[in-house]
Amino acid sequence: NLPKAVEIREVGPRDGLQNEKIFIPTDLKVQWINLISETGVRHIEVSSFVSPKWIPALADHHEVFEQIARDEKITYAALVPNLKGVEGAIQQKVDEIALFISASEEHNQSNVNASINQSLQNLKAVAEAANREGISLRGYISTVFGSPFGDEVKLQTVKGIIDAYLAMGVSEISLGDTIGVADPVQVKAILSELLTQYDSDLFALHFHDTYGRALANIFAALELGITKYDSAIGGLGGCPYAPGASGNVSTNDLVNFLHRLGVQTNIDEEKLFTATRFLQQAINRQLDSKVYKVQSN
Ligand code: HMG
Ligand code: MG
Repeated sequence: NLPKAVEIREVGPRDGLQNEKIFIPTDLKVQWINLISETGVRHIEVSSFVSPKWIPALADHHEVFEQIARDEKITYAALVPNLKGVEGAIQQKVDEIALFISASEEHNQSNVNASINQSLQNLKAVAEAANREGISLRGYISTVFGSPFGDEVKLQTVKGIIDAYLAMGVSEISLGDTIGVADPVQVKAILSELLTQYDSDLFALHFHDTYGRALANIFAALELGITKYDSAIGGLGGCPYAPGASGNVSTNDLVNFLHRLGVQTNIDEEKLFTATRFLQQAINRQLDSKVYKVQSN
């Protein structure tokens, strides 16, 4: 009994490019995002208003937002960690601000140079500014299924962050498997527990595919009625501050899998192929997607 349709959020321009060694020129990013806008996807994470010292690959967040062609039907989102970031996001009229925090104390420290408690204070200030401007809020929780530093991640910590996000006015929470260690049994156990307390509509799932288990994990979540998934074209992605993190589940493989299961996505696979081929040429390395490999032969 699977959902009839799901919402996919294309995170390649953000989660994907943040992890590329080589800076992709702004005009190529813009052309790529414009091609993604053509695919039918309704949510695109465009960039991050973070420190260019920390994430040099996305230092052009202002220019990218200034130059992309925006389709009214699409939500163009950006990650924001602090007040400086929210100023930029407001200036660029982003449609949605994505807050982010890790449920692992060590990963949070490594990623944003702050404790979980300090981050919650920073995010509260960001949320207040976004709420004043009427910008919708999404909240990421990283390392829900395991930490890159081996510290224990407690479900109680995850729930505390969910409650804090709800108090800030966050309308969607993305549960992240930052280093791709989850398995379907664990996914079912954690989700089943969360769904006794929260509505399934609140959650999106964000799987990295380090061990090739992302689609199996998504199937487990589909069976529990989760209808929102994050993915990246060509399997790009990874967090530079999470050792061992690899790419997100590829949008190409996910969309093909869902269509095969009879689950609608509103994404056109041919247009997705076109956007992926463009990316392939722009980054000039083999992409990590089985479906794209089949389609390009
Ligand atoms: P810090 O060094 O503690 O902060 O970094 P700071 O306030 O001392 O600022 C350092 C410099 O950055 C200053 O510049 C600031 O002005 C500047 P300087 O005076 O030295 O020239 N700065 C900024 N510039 C532009 N925009 C800003 C901004 N803020 C400060 N918003 C900070 C703290 C949070 C800024 C830093 O740690 C940071 O930017 N971290 C971002 C890390 C990141 O983006 N990680 C990847 C995303 S999370 C992820 O991938 C997981 C996810 O995909 C889900 C999953 O997979 O689980 C979401
Ligand atoms: Mg990620």
